[in-house]
Amino acid sequence: MDPHSEAVSKITVPLILDRKLRGEKITYLTAYDYPTARLVDEAGIDMILVGDSLAQVVLGYDSTIPVTLDEMLHHLRAVRRATRRALLIVDLPYGTYHVGEEETLRASIRCLKEGGAEAVKIEGGKKRAALIRRLVEAEIPVMGHIGLTPQSVHSFGGYRVQGRTLESALELLADAQAVEDAGAFALVLEGIPRELAALITGRLRIPTVGIGAGPDCDGQVLVVHDLLGLSFSPRAKFVRSYADLAAVLRDAFARFRDDVLAGRYPADAESYHWSASLREQFEKEVATRSLEDEFEG
Ligand code: KIV
Repeated sequence: MDPHSEAVSKITVPLILDRKLRGEKITYLTAYDYPTARLVDEAGIDMILVGDSLAQVVLGYDSTIPVTLDEMLHHLRAVRRATRRALLIVDLPYGTYHVGEEETLRASIRCLKEGGAEAVKIEGGKKRAALIRRLVEAEIPVMGHIGLTPQSVHSFGGYRVQGRTLESALELLADAQAVEDAGAFALVLEGIPRELAALITGRLRIPTVGIGAGPDCDGQVLVVHDLLGLSFSPRAKFVRSYADLAAVLRDAFARFRDDVLAGRYPADAESYHWSASLREQFEKEVATRSLEDEFEG
């Protein structure tokens, strides 16, 4: 079915919750611009995330920390214009939920009103519970995100798999429970051992969506540039490349350059033309004008 046809059934928060009850897997990808979001939506992917990975994969920053709310909103609006079926979620960027609840509420409301998001995603477990509760009270659906949370890169001392000790695994289990109890409708599990992800998924009523968390989560999410082979950073173990777009683009750019340099582009068939009668009129006009010039001169 073409999700852009009228018969599309819109994915909603209750539908995502229902997927878990039915034991149906959830598909989730990032997008940051109109054409990508359009193709992701048309492919029938359930949820689209305007992730703060935008910072690295599109804007060229070396972490997710610098991206601003305005930058997120700019991309969110483009994705909104393309998305008809998928549930549209946006990451609250670093700094928008660290100062005070009012500021987080205002940032989230901007995401819904100005950006057209249908939910926000926040990194962190127990320490975000009160905030999640507050957002849910304000009718803002929240997706949690625990494990290798990229906004904690400085406190983790790098991008390291989490939950590999008993203490850290128990901590993450308690975080997952706290996020669910606070009212989040789904939880991203990033960079944790498969066994821990399976345990959390089995305990929670809300769906888990894994990235580098093994196959037992209720759904899977990937950064679209990783899936397309369009990323410049070393490929993580969990990434499966479904295309090599970097090679396709390199080849296309090189062939364009070669064709222009060799005079092969554009060809006559790629050019606009005068009609035969206009050409004749123009030639007569030019000839008359040059005769007049001669006499006047
Ligand atoms: O920003 C992002 O792309 C994410 C995904 C990795 C889940 O948070």
